[in-house]
Amino acid sequence: MSALLPLLFGLFGLLLLLLRSRKRRDGEPPLINGWIPFIGKALHFGKDAHKFLEEYKKKYGDVFTVHIAGKYMTFIMDPHLYPSIIRQGRQLDFHEFTGKVAPLTFGYKPVQSDLWEKIRRSFQLLQGDNLQPLTGSMMSNLILVFRQDHLDHGLWRSSSMYDFCSSVMFEATFLTIYGRPAAALRHSDMEALREDFNKFDNMFPLLIAQVPIWLLGQTSAIRKKLIHYFLPERLSRFSNTSEFIKTRVGLFEQESSMKDVDKGAHHFAMLWASVGNTLPATFWAMYFLVSHPEALQTVRREILDVLRDDGVEFSTDSDVKLSKEQLDKLIYLESSINESLRLSSASTNIRVVQEDFSLRLDASRAISVRKGDIIALYPQSMHLDPEIYEDPQTFQFDRFVQDGAEKTDFYKDGQKLRYYLMPFGSGSSMCPGRYFAVNEIKQFLSLLLLYFELELEEGQPRPALDPSRAGLGILLPSTDIRFRYRLRANEA
Ligand code: HEM
Ligand SMILES: *[C@@H]1O[C@H](CO)[C@@H](O)[C@H](O)[C@H]1NC(C)=O
Ligand SMILES: *[C@@H]1O[C@H](CO)[C@@H](O)[C@H](O)[C@H]1NC(C)=O
Repeated sequence: MSALLPLLFGLFGLLLLLLRSRKRRDGEPPLINGWIPFIGKALHFGKDAHKFLEEYKKKYGDVFTVHIAGKYMTFIMDPHLYPSIIRQGRQLDFHEFTGKVAPLTFGYKPVQSDLWEKIRRSFQLLQGDNLQPLTGSMMSNLILVFRQDHLDHGLWRSSSMYDFCSSVMFEATFLTIYGRPAAALRHSDMEALREDFNKFDNMFPLLIAQVPIWLLGQTSAIRKKLIHYFLPERLSRFSNTSEFIKTRVGLFEQESSMKDVDKGAHHFAMLWASVGNTLPATFWAMYFLVSHPEALQTVRREILDVLRDDGVEFSTDSDVKLSKEQLDKLIYLESSINESLRLSSASTNIRVVQEDFSLRLDASRAISVRKGDIIALYPQSMHLDPEIYEDPQTFQFDRFVQDGAEKTDFYKDGQKLRYYLMPFGSGSSMCPGRYFAVNEIKQFLSLLLLYFELELEEGQPRPALDPSRAGLGILLPSTDIRFRYRLRANEA
C-alpha cells in the first residue's frame, strides 16, 4: 500500500504537469508551491506532517499557504490565533468538506441538508443525560467481554497490546452502540468483523485522499461486506440497540428515496467513527500507564478510593460497576488519558473558505483568503510545543492536574491559551462522541487496572507513531508491544 501512494500521486502529477501554480497576491500569506505542480508538498507532508510544518514555520512564520495535493491550504500555526478561526462561522465552512469526502469514503449518496440537520441532532443522544444508559451498558459489555476471554484463571498470559485493546474495545463498543446480533453472538464472529474492519481501516487514508476505490484491490468488496452487515433488515433483528442507533434507523426509514445500501453505509460509517480513533487512543493510554508503574499505582489507588468512598470494597471475585458519577471523579485517570491523547493525536481541523475575503486573525493582523481555499489548524504542533508543555515527548500522567483539580492554565509567550488540547477537533466540527469516548476508555482502564497485574515484556522500546494517517486522528503505533497480565489475587 505504501508503494501505491507515490505511484498514484506521480501519475496525477504527470497528468497535470502543464497546470501552472498560482502566484501570491497582496495581503496573502507566504505561498509555498511544490516544485512539481499538483503533487505539491503532498509526499513530504504525508511522511512527517509535524516536522514539515515546523520547518516551514521557522522559515515563513505562523501563517503560510501550502500547495498540497491540488489544494491550497493555509496553516495557522500560532495557537493564540486559533479562536479567530474557530469562532468564524459564516465565511468558513466545515461541512462542505465532510459532505463530499465522507460519502465517497463510506459509499453512501451525498446527504441533503435537511436530513443532515436531523442526523446532527441525533448526535445529542451520545451526550448529556443520554450518556447515563450508554455508560451502564458499556460497563456490562466490558465485563462480559473480559469475563468471556480474559478472567478465567490466575496464571500469567502473554499478549500483544494493540490487539488486546482493540479486540476488547471493538466488541464492547459494538455491543453498546448497535446491540446484539440476532444469531447467538460468538467471539469469533466479532473477530471476523474486526478483521474486515481493519482491512478497510488500513485503506482509510487513501480513501480520504479520494483515491478511487477500484484502485485499492479488495477494498471495494470488503466495504460491500461491511455495509451489508448493517442493512436495515439485519439491524432490525439486533437486540439491545442503543437509542442513538434506533433514532438513526427511524430517521432513514422516513426517507422514502433512500436505498437500503445507503442506510447500511451510514451505519457502517458510524462504526468507523465510533472505533476508528477509540482503539488507538485506548492503546496509547494503556501503554503509557503500563510503562509507567508509578502512574499506574496512583491511578489504581484513585479508583479504589472512589469505590471505597461509596462503600464498595473491591474484590476480584465479583463484578465491579463504576457509575458515571464515579468515573467523573477519576481526575488522575482522566489526566492520563488526556496526556496520551496529547502525545498521539494528529488531526487537522479544516474549514473551507466560502468567498474571497479578509480574514481577521487578531487585533493587528488580517490575511486575504480565496474562495475554495482551506484554512487548517494542526494542533499536534501545539501539543508538542516545549513552550506550552515542558519536555513535550515525556508522558506525565498528572500534567492536567493541579492541587487535586483539573489544570486549565497553559501559557505561550506569557499569555494564557484559550485552546491547549484539541484531540476532538473544534467548534462546529467537534467530535460529538467525545464524552462517550473518554468515558469508555476510563471504563476499560479501570477494569484492567483493578482486575489485572500488568507488565511489559523486556527489551521493547516505546513504539513510534505510524505517520500514515497524520491529519486524520489518533495515530497508530508503528509496532505492537508484548505484555503479560494475570488476574490479581484479592488484597487483604
Ligand atoms: C478517542 C476517541 C475519539 C477521537 C480522538 C475522535 C476524534 C474526532 C475528530 C477529530 C473528529 C472530526 C472533527 C473535525 O474534523 O474537526 C470526529 C468526528 C466525529 N466523531 Fe469522533 N472521536 C473519537 C471517538 C468517537 C466516538 C466513540 C464516536 C461515537 C460513538 C464518535 C463520533 C464522531 C462523529 C459522528 C463525528 C462526525 C461529526 C460531524 O460530522 O459533525 N467519535 N471525531
Ligand atoms: C439488554 O438490556 C437490558 C437493560 O437495558 C439488560 O438488563 C439486559 O441484560 C440486556 N441484555 C443483553 C442480552 O445484553
Ligand atoms: C481532558 O480533556 C478534555 C478535552 O479534550 C476536557 O474537557 C477535560 O476537562 C480534560 N480533563 C482533564 C483532567 O484535563
